[in-house]
Amino acid sequence: MSDRDIKRVRPHPNQSEYLIFERSSPGKSAYKLPPLDVPAVDAAKLLGASARRDLGSMPEVSEFEIIRHFTRLSTWNYAIDLGMYPLGSCTMKYNARVNEAVARLEGLAEAHPYQPEKLSQGALRILKLLSDYLLEITGMEAITLQPAAGAHGEMTGILLIRAYLESKGNPRKKILIPDSAHGTNPATAAICGYTVENLKSNAAGRIDVSALAQQMNEDVAGMMLTNPNTLGVFEEEIHKIADLLHEKGALLYMDGANMNALVGKTRPGDFGVDVMHLNLHKTFSTPHGGGGPGSGPVACKKFLDPFLPIPAVITKPDGTLGFNYDRPQAIGRVRAFYGNFGMHVRALAYIMANGCDGLVETTEDAVLNANYIRKKLEDVYDLPYNSPSMHEVVFSHRLQARRGIRTGDIAKRLIDYGFHPYTTSFPLIVPDHGALMIEPTESEPKEELDLFIDAMRSIAREAEETPEIVKDAPHTTRISRLDEATAARKPVLRWKPQAKSAGE
Ligand SMILES: Cc1ncc(COP(=O)(O)O)c(C=O)c1O
Repeated sequence: MSDRDIKRVRPHPNQSEYLIFERSSPGKSAYKLPPLDVPAVDAAKLLGASARRDLGSMPEVSEFEIIRHFTRLSTWNYAIDLGMYPLGSCTMKYNARVNEAVARLEGLAEAHPYQPEKLSQGALRILKLLSDYLLEITGMEAITLQPAAGAHGEMTGILLIRAYLESKGNPRKKILIPDSAHGTNPATAAICGYTVENLKSNAAGRIDVSALAQQMNEDVAGMMLTNPNTLGVFEEEIHKIADLLHEKGALLYMDGANMNALVGKTRPGDFGVDVMHLNLHKTFSTPHGGGGPGSGPVACKKFLDPFLPIPAVITKPDGTLGFNYDRPQAIGRVRAFYGNFGMHVRALAYIMANGCDGLVETTEDAVLNANYIRKKLEDVYDLPYNSPSMHEVVFSHRLQARRGIRTGDIAKRLIDYGFHPYTTSFPLIVPDHGALMIEPTESEPKEELDLFIDAMRSIAREAEETPEIVKDAPHTTRISRLDEATAARKPVLRWKPQAKSAGE
């Protein structure tokens, strides 16, 4: 490593933080109060059997120690507020603070789902406006905002296809899914009762339309296609794909996780898609999070509308808004109440703050940023599929593998340079599972992209000159290389006193 490189590496703020239990010393406390001058109340008398008697062993520390402990821990988290988060396929864009401020307005944050409709007109208007904007953006005709994640939207969408085909007396068996698809796609199809048939991508990283034509038959209920796909490549023949499916009575589902590349430029409803989901927590700048706090609205063509979950937002004859539960063909509910309302507020704030021009510019900048990275790195990292990139670029570790370095090693070394790793080993169709999937989003300024590019070029140099540095990374974190298989299969998530080693 050169001096310059060493300087650039960001050291961790604290390398040896003890558990709060390990800091404990008997009798210490975080506060000092004057003696009690009112009768003490016995919690057990007040609460009866529900009072917890045994609190186990609790840490005993001073206020300063506990504040420092948690403040230090908070600095261990990498965050978009600290630097670039290039996780491909995740669209980790900056979520503007104004969205948060709007979602915290008392009338919205405190709105109760059982509030009568006449007191909920503002909240209903938010749902209606967001629905209308998303329909305009996607070119679709009906929508539900209920699903709480992309994968949840997928399930809702495929259940719509199933309900529709069953209503026609034409239930089918198979869903076709390209080999580049996100793992949630085949999982969704299987959960909805379908068998999954794989479609091989061609050398350009796209669907092979002639192979599709041969695979099509009347057992096929539909196809799940991501566009742009997980290589960041636009499926240019999507019209033909839609026609092939429709000719045989099957439907086209679009995984809309990558809509950040399309908003304001082209509309899935116009290129033959029947049903799709959007990830509000990607494209529309709402917080991500474990399938819980996210939002994955499903938009579809009119013929699928009767099957959308209940309730649907409607305009009543007197012009006010309300919910319609009388939808006999609906697949039911997929989420309590109306979905994650706070996310709908944030997404609407994002759309309205950007306006039409802003959304188009966002898409252009997202694609520009990905292509800037591609251009600046393509001489040092291999491009396994040379088709034009949209909002993300996928390299492979082929050149570095000659030195025994894999995508995961490069990603770990990026941590030493102060960046969150990119997505590793996905999509799986990259040979040797060696994908480096990078999505900068429109949020990143050129200066941050240049720092990232410098870091990636520096790692490519290290891979040639000092490969061990890359293979053993990270070096600047509190915990170095983990045994990831054991960490995933036998996670230890809770401190237990007996876990202390002898002599402590
Ligand atoms: C292409 C694609 N499809 C589906 C999903 C699933 O979305 P979610 O994580 O919101 O369930 C993702 C998530 O990363 C994705 O990248």
